[in-house]
Amino acid sequence: MTDKDLIEAARQAALKAYAPYSGFSVGCAIESVDGEMVTGANMENACYRLGICAEQSALTAAQHAFGLDKVRRIAVAGGDGSGDALRGDAPVTPCGGCRQAILEAAHLSGEDVEILAANGDGSKVERLHIHNLIPHGFGPANLKDSEA
Ligand code: THU
Repeated sequence: MTDKDLIEAARQAALKAYAPYSGFSVGCAIESVDGEMVTGANMENACYRLGICAEQSALTAAQHAFGLDKVRRIAVAGGDGSGDALRGDAPVTPCGGCRQAILEAAHLSGEDVEILAANGDGSKVERLHIHNLIPHGFGPANLKDSEA
């Protein structure tokens, strides 16, 4: 799958966001080590703090489809999703909570998961890696000294 394919899937997914409160639609597409793909979008709630991000929505789908341990590449795109196509100028990088959720998958897969952060129309893309986005992160290995 090309970068463009993955970004386009994220842009399409953003059109299925439920974001009536922020008006900001985010889509996420995740590719597995075997070339499978799943998508997700942000889903807000009248109780604002219960909204979930596109990345966590897509990571849940990834776990169901092929397992978090097979996550290789992620594309994120966001902006105004009120029309036929997603629009927006600034690339969307994963929020702090989503970085932590992606790190969990990265630790399981052993991959330095690549993240393509795109703007709404897909014309700007930043190529990032999870270990740069969350250096010195807390992951499964940090729990090895627990009693359980
Ligand atoms: N949002 C995401 O879906 N992913 C991110 O990484 C950043 C923010 C969503 C959450 C909320 O529904 C909207 O964007 C505005 O913050």
